[in-house]
Amino acid sequence: MTSTTIRSVSQESRIFEPPEEFRAAAHLSSFDEYTRIYEESITDPEGFWMARALEELVWAKPPTRAIEWEPPHAKFFADGELNVSVNCLDRHLEAGKGSKTAIVFEGEPGDIRKITYQELADEVNRAANLLKRLGAKKGDRVGIYMGMVPEAAIAMLACARLGLIHTVIFGGFAVESIRDRLNDASARFVFTQDGLHRRGKAVPLKAQVDKALEQVASVEKVIVFKRTGQEVDWVDGRDLDWAEAMTGESTDCAPEIVDAEHPLFILYTSGTTGKPKGVLHTTGGYLLSVKLSARYVFDLKDDDLYWCTADIGWVTGHSYVVYGMFANAATVMMYEGAPNHPNEARFWEIIERHRVTIFYTAPTAIRAFIRWGDQHPKAHDLSSLRLLGSVGEPINPEAWVWYYETIGNGRCPIVDTWWQTETGSIMLSPIPGATPVKPGACSHPFFGVVPKIVNESGEEVPDGTGGLLVIEKPWPSMLRTLWGDDQRFRETYFDIFPGKYFTGDGARRDEDGFYWVMGRIDDVLNISGHRLGTAEIESCLVGHPYVAEAAAVGRPDELKGQSLVAFITLKEGLEAGAEVAAKLADHVSQEIGRFACPEEIRFAHALPKTRSGKIVRRLLTKLAAGEELGGDMSTLEDPSVLDELKKKGY
Ligand code: WT7
Repeated sequence: MTSTTIRSVSQESRIFEPPEEFRAAAHLSSFDEYTRIYEESITDPEGFWMARALEELVWAKPPTRAIEWEPPHAKFFADGELNVSVNCLDRHLEAGKGSKTAIVFEGEPGDIRKITYQELADEVNRAANLLKRLGAKKGDRVGIYMGMVPEAAIAMLACARLGLIHTVIFGGFAVESIRDRLNDASARFVFTQDGLHRRGKAVPLKAQVDKALEQVASVEKVIVFKRTGQEVDWVDGRDLDWAEAMTGESTDCAPEIVDAEHPLFILYTSGTTGKPKGVLHTTGGYLLSVKLSARYVFDLKDDDLYWCTADIGWVTGHSYVVYGMFANAATVMMYEGAPNHPNEARFWEIIERHRVTIFYTAPTAIRAFIRWGDQHPKAHDLSSLRLLGSVGEPINPEAWVWYYETIGNGRCPIVDTWWQTETGSIMLSPIPGATPVKPGACSHPFFGVVPKIVNESGEEVPDGTGGLLVIEKPWPSMLRTLWGDDQRFRETYFDIFPGKYFTGDGARRDEDGFYWVMGRIDDVLNISGHRLGTAEIESCLVGHPYVAEAAAVGRPDELKGQSLVAFITLKEGLEAGAEVAAKLADHVSQEIGRFACPEEIRFAHALPKTRSGKIVRRLLTKLAAGEELGGDMSTLEDPSVLDELKKKGY
């Protein structure tokens, strides 16, 4: 932990009541009702979760107990048995919802597909049968490196049907990141596609997988969905064409019934050290949390068309595009491409064309919409919208008010949802028909969530004071461990404040009981809503043959929230300059992905260090932001480097 005191900066006093029309029809329509259920959930969690589990989920063998908690390990519904895909598909077919649309897909080129629950179930079963034929066994790991196409969701659900553990790798990740994740998970199978459409180009995906697999021994088969038709290399015996391979498969596939604590997926996320963490989520508790939160936070109704713009490669895509939504038999909008292709009105066009009712996006996107201009949303009929959501980073009150007025036309509540890859489901959020909201605040805890704001000694701080956000009690969708590294799981999340889950975020609870999350307090950045560890970027940079030493820090960025600035010392005899900077930026793009690319690279013959050799990151952060350094520099080994590092880089 690097921070000492946390200032709370967001001061916004306006309160927005749920619009009357919304409240009248909402699942939860008063704050008292929310409070009553919340109190029940935390005073009798065992009873609360048992009842919900039996009500909400279809069990092959119902559980007889809800919670086992031996910090840091939690189990939920441990003696229950079920299957996630049965809960997301079969039960809806049995309830007569087979002809209900599950997915409305719009490709970037403009192609539209509607997939019913019956069709989705058929495709999932085909894919599961194919995996079975290829020899997949319960517990095997499957990599999914795809874009936003229905087949990505089909691949995930097919894994769930057989008790296979998927690890979805965001399509923006580059070769080394794919390689490391597949290796860490020892994946036997990979789903990918030839390429995806992005900003009018066909972005290759299979070619990246091909390169990654040169250094992955565990993968036996690669199933390739042909999306763009672009040319791809083919490894006979290893690669299978999705369409060809599925044709012979039956649309019936018996689900593999698994224990509630059987792993559902691994999702890698950045931490404070170089190696990404394989966050492990399991079956019953996860499914219950995402199902309940999806219904109450998004006030989901049978006729909603819900659109979350997050990619399936992030946890938001897992929980609130796939599992939480299909568990509720929701209709989900899925869009393949960029928000500004062919122009900046694309999202508003989609909302108008399909009559989207719920729209969930990230503050970084909202800031881009603002910059692109009001003329784009104004030119479209957004009257189908009834609820807006935000996730990924704190939303600044200006962006909140713009979203509320320009997109929601003052009629739609906004749910600012705080959660993490590790929490699996939404932890802090307004309930849209019940909670009066303050722009910029994530409001109140969801059922069963017990947040606390503490100081560095773990003592609770008074309301209105900034501190560290911890969660006191286990909740059903909490991560169970880090794949292959239980020690790191313990150290990262539970050793800092024994027995409590440490989020890594700074936050404050105001006098009215609203939670305000201020962002990461560790060396993890939030760039366009993507979590990136500075250590990961640094270890990538020093992996380049030119680089002797590297430090990466964040600086405030109007659009992205934060952007990345790298400070570099080159190896002897190399000349700093634009050309080298471009090579290093390229290297990061190649290894991690373009979204991790430093915005600026500065060079110096050394980095500012203490006499004991520790890089003084505090100074670098100030330098990056262009702030005055001030203070005492006498502890520095070589204060002269600061002048070099003050100069603007490349
Ligand atoms: C980190 C988690 C959860 C899905 C997307 C990101 C930040 C997330 C909010 C919010 C303020 C937020 C936190 C958190 N964050 N939502 N509504 N207000 N900050 O998942 O990549 O695991 O990142 O995103 O810093 O710790 P993730």
